[in-house]
Amino acid sequence: MNKIYERVRACYESIANKLPFRPKVALILGSGLGSLADEVEVKATIPYNTIANFPVSTVPGHKGRFVFAYIGEVPVVIMQGRVHYYEGYSMEEVVLPTRLMHEMGAETLFVTNAAGGANPNFKAGDLMLITDQIMNFVPSPLIGPNAAELGERFPDMSEIYTKKLQQLLLDVAKKLEIKLQTGVYVQTTGPNFESPAEVRMLQRLGGDAIGMSTACEAVTACHMGMQVCGISCISNLAAGLSASKLSDDDVKKTANLVGRIFKRLVTEAIKEMAHN
Ligand code: HPA
Repeated sequence: MNKIYERVRACYESIANKLPFRPKVALILGSGLGSLADEVEVKATIPYNTIANFPVSTVPGHKGRFVFAYIGEVPVVIMQGRVHYYEGYSMEEVVLPTRLMHEMGAETLFVTNAAGGANPNFKAGDLMLITDQIMNFVPSPLIGPNAAELGERFPDMSEIYTKKLQQLLLDVAKKLEIKLQTGVYVQTTGPNFESPAEVRMLQRLGGDAIGMSTACEAVTACHMGMQVCGISCISNLAAGLSASKLSDDDVKKTANLVGRIFKRLVTEAIKEMAHN
């Protein structure tokens, strides 16, 4: 067995008897957006630090647990807190939770994050549907011997974000009268925010929102044949686009402020996924 897959299996087996159901959707909650998991009817929780050989987030405010809940009729596994590349974890570790949720049975990955707006038409507090992505100097999570149990060596990435789910999110946003921007998400390594010159570069490359997560998880999910969709909460204008300096506190504050609308959009969209 491939070593990466062996580790996924070991994690799975260490928690298999605690899973209340086979999840259909895996939802990753970004910075400042974790409270969604406090408002669902929880069936079970599994703290990351109780899982054998599992990476645990060092970021303050990231809770670090799987929450299992039905949203509408859909069984969902929610990651309340994720691990990031900038914390010093290897890419293999950063995407291990995504692989584990697939092993639990999830067929769809719903990624969310707080991100800086690089598109000049965006405002802090906007929500953005991710239509595609760029990994900016972030290594592919698929480097190394291929885990053939999970997917093929050279996976196609021409539709990482499933078109059908993009349409579903646009339809739900329209129904709820929620303004939803669309655009390309850029993952940087972090942990520093970008310089204004880097933001200009990323704008020219086609980036609309910039963050420090997500794209590697989406590549991993695509490799495994999962459907993927994603929402960025534009927590601030990227460096150089506003007069103010960037801080993690402000990022979390804005994410919290739009939290109510974000939660409505995400939960209604997941309910609709029952029919997918
Ligand atoms: N840049 C990178 N990551 C971020 C930002 C940003 O401006 N805001 C929130 N996460």
